[in-house]
Amino acid sequence: MPKSILLPLLADGEFRSGQDLADALGVSRTAVWKRVNKLATESGLQIESVKGKGYRIRGGVELLVPELITAALSAEAGRLMAGLHVLESVDSTNAELMRQAQAGHAPGLVCTAEQQTAGRGRRGREWISPFGSNLYLSLLWEFSQGAAALEGLSLAVGVAVSRALEACAVPGVQLKWPNDVLHDGAKLGGILLEMTGDAAGACQVVVGIGLNVSMPTEAAGAIDQAWTDISRISGAAHPGRNVLLGALLNELLPLMAGFEQGGFSPWREQWQSLDAFAGSKVVLNTGASKLGGTAMGVDERGALQLQTTSGVQSVYGGEISLRPAP
Ligand code: BTN
Repeated sequence: MPKSILLPLLADGEFRSGQDLADALGVSRTAVWKRVNKLATESGLQIESVKGKGYRIRGGVELLVPELITAALSAEAGRLMAGLHVLESVDSTNAELMRQAQAGHAPGLVCTAEQQTAGRGRRGREWISPFGSNLYLSLLWEFSQGAAALEGLSLAVGVAVSRALEACAVPGVQLKWPNDVLHDGAKLGGILLEMTGDAAGACQVVVGIGLNVSMPTEAAGAIDQAWTDISRISGAAHPGRNVLLGALLNELLPLMAGFEQGGFSPWREQWQSLDAFAGSKVVLNTGASKLGGTAMGVDERGALQLQTTSGVQSVYGGEISLRPAP
């Protein structure tokens, strides 16, 4: 979908007459009608058309605006960010940055989009990504010491997300190993790390974060687990998507810049304090097998400590999922 010039004219949720829009766009009223329909189809936005009043997006939509995102950045985050791509639609912001990494783009590049048409979740799942309602954010970074130096990074990203949300007055966030963001047991966000390059040397990592802000109920029908969003937690009190995005980057960029040196240890204590399953009976599902036990937090490398009948086992991340024991 090419960047729409019609959408910003309707974003405030007020009616604009067909003639107004035709004048602003320099096209006929019939052409406006066609463009409105095309926009509604491509974005999934509910655009009302009322005779004598014109068109409106009921409730309006807060669009992502590069200037508003950068205005919300700390001086440090602003220094560390090498570029910001704000797209209207993309297959996946992670896929986009993996392409940029392969094309040799510098670390520190950020990509966000109003909509993902093929959002990627963990374990091969789709990440439901409707237009203009949630946050889909990816950051490209480069590391020199390979995958081993990155142990625990996805857990530290979870801590960074919870800090950002706290800074935006969204309290009560918890984490589920390895990297689900929860609120009251329901999924608020997810984290997906992808890597390219030399697993033993110089490699690029794309950190992807999906955060439910105002999930439309129609889109949520496709989600196969308990979910929540920031609007349900904070009502209208949250600062909006641009400021939330800035707050995420304020935590994420310094984390990435310091991780190769400091590793997961400085993040461990806070991760434990956010652990939704500490001391709970759980079942780990690796796909091929299931392992039951009591979750006892994580070690210095971010490995889950599972108390089983045969002692404490360290479980490393990857494609494993954790569920409460029945
Ligand atoms: C999960 O399954 O919990 C991880 C979801 C990660 C979703 C985010 S949205 C931004 C980035 N782009 C993607 O395609 N996926 C991640």
